[in-house]
Amino acid sequence: MSAIPQPLIELSQIRKVFRTSHGALTAVDSIDLIVERGSTIGLVGESGSGKSTVARMLLRLLTPTSGSIRILGEDVTGWSDKKLKPVRSMLQWVSQHPAAALFPNLTVGQNIMEPMRIHGIGMAQERQRKARGLLAKVGIPQEGFHAFPHELSGGQQQRVVIARALSVDPGCVVLDEAVSSLDVSVQAQILNLLQDLQEEMNLSYLFISHNLAVIRLVCDEVAVMFLGRVVESGKTREVFDHPLHPYTKKLLAAVPSFTPDGGVTQLDESSLLQGDPPSPLNIPSGCAFRSRCPYARERCAQERPLLRRVGTQDVACHFAEEIAAE
Ligand SMILES: Nc1ncnc2c1ncn2[C@@H]1O[C@H](COP(=O)(O)OP(=O)(O)OP(=O)(O)O)[C@@H](O)[C@H]1O
Ligand code: SF4
Ligand SMILES: [Mg+2]
Repeated sequence: MSAIPQPLIELSQIRKVFRTSHGALTAVDSIDLIVERGSTIGLVGESGSGKSTVARMLLRLLTPTSGSIRILGEDVTGWSDKKLKPVRSMLQWVSQHPAAALFPNLTVGQNIMEPMRIHGIGMAQERQRKARGLLAKVGIPQEGFHAFPHELSGGQQQRVVIARALSVDPGCVVLDEAVSSLDVSVQAQILNLLQDLQEEMNLSYLFISHNLAVIRLVCDEVAVMFLGRVVESGKTREVFDHPLHPYTKKLLAAVPSFTPDGGVTQLDESSLLQGDPPSPLNIPSGCAFRSRCPYARERCAQERPLLRRVGTQDVACHFAEEIAAE
C-alpha cells in the first residue's frame, strides 16, 4: 500500500493574539491553510487583515497562540530555534523592499551566498559556483556578482533577493507584496521569472498582494481574509468569477478594467467598500463584516458564520446560497 503524500505545509486552526498596551489584539483567528508542492496560494484582504501575520507563522518567525503548523506531516509548532534551523532553510521570504532586505556592505555574490554560509551548505568554491548559477537563472549578468546592492535597479535587487532565497533549495517561498514596489513592466518580468522558477524547481509560493489582477494571474488558489479570518477560499478562478462572500464581491468591485474603446470602467460608488473595518482589539459579535455588509440582517448580529462549502468554494456567510442564486 502506498503512503499518502503529506502536504508540504499545513496550518490548522492557527490563531495569533498580540498583547498590546491597548489590550489583546487578535490578528489571526482559526485559519486552516494547506500548501501543496508546486502550487501557489494567494492571500488577499485589506491592510491589517492579518496576511503577514499568517505568513510569519508559516515561516515560523512567530509562534501561534494556538493551533498547529506541520511541515511534511511533522508538527513543528513548539520547536525551538535550534531544532527549527533546517526547517527555516526550506521556507524563504521575499518582501516588498529589496533594498532593505539585502546587506548593503556585502556584494551581490556575498548576499546570495550568505544563507548557504549560515546553514553550512557546501564549501566556499561550491557556494560561489551555485551563487553564479542562480545569478544567471534570475537574469543578471555575471559582472553583477561583484556589484553592491545600491548599484542595481529595484527590479535587479529583487532578482538578487529571489536568487538568495533559492540558494538554500527551499520548498516554499513567501512573497509578501514582492512585486508591489516595482514598475509594471518589471513586475511582469519578475512574475514570469517566478513562474519559470516554480516549474523548474517545483516550488510552492504563498503570494500576498493587494493587486487582485496579479493574484488572478499567478495563484491556483486564493484565501480572502477579513479581520484575521478567512471569509472565502477556493480555486482563484471560481472565487474571482463567482464571489460568494459580500466582502469578496466588494474587493473585486474596486478593480478597474479597460473597456474595448481603450477607456477605464467607471466604478459604481454603491458597490465599493464603505468605512473602515472594526478594530482587531474589539472584534464584534456575530459576523465581523456586518457593519459594512449590504446583505446583513438580524441573524448576522447574533451568530458568527463559519467557513463552509457552498458549491465550488468555502464561504463564511449565512446567506451564501442566496447570494449564489442572484
Ligand atoms: N508585533 C505585533 N504586535 C502587535 N500587533 C501587531 C503585530 N504585528 C501585527 N499586528 C497587528 O495585527 C494585525 C494584522 O497585521 P498584519 O501585518 O498581519 O496585516 P496585513 O494584512 O499584512 O496588512 P498589510 O496589508 O498592511 O501588510 C494588525 O492590526 C496589526 O496592527
Ligand atoms: S453573514 Fe451576514 S453580515 Fe456576514 S457577510 Fe453574510 S450577510 Fe453579510
Ligand atoms: Mg502585510
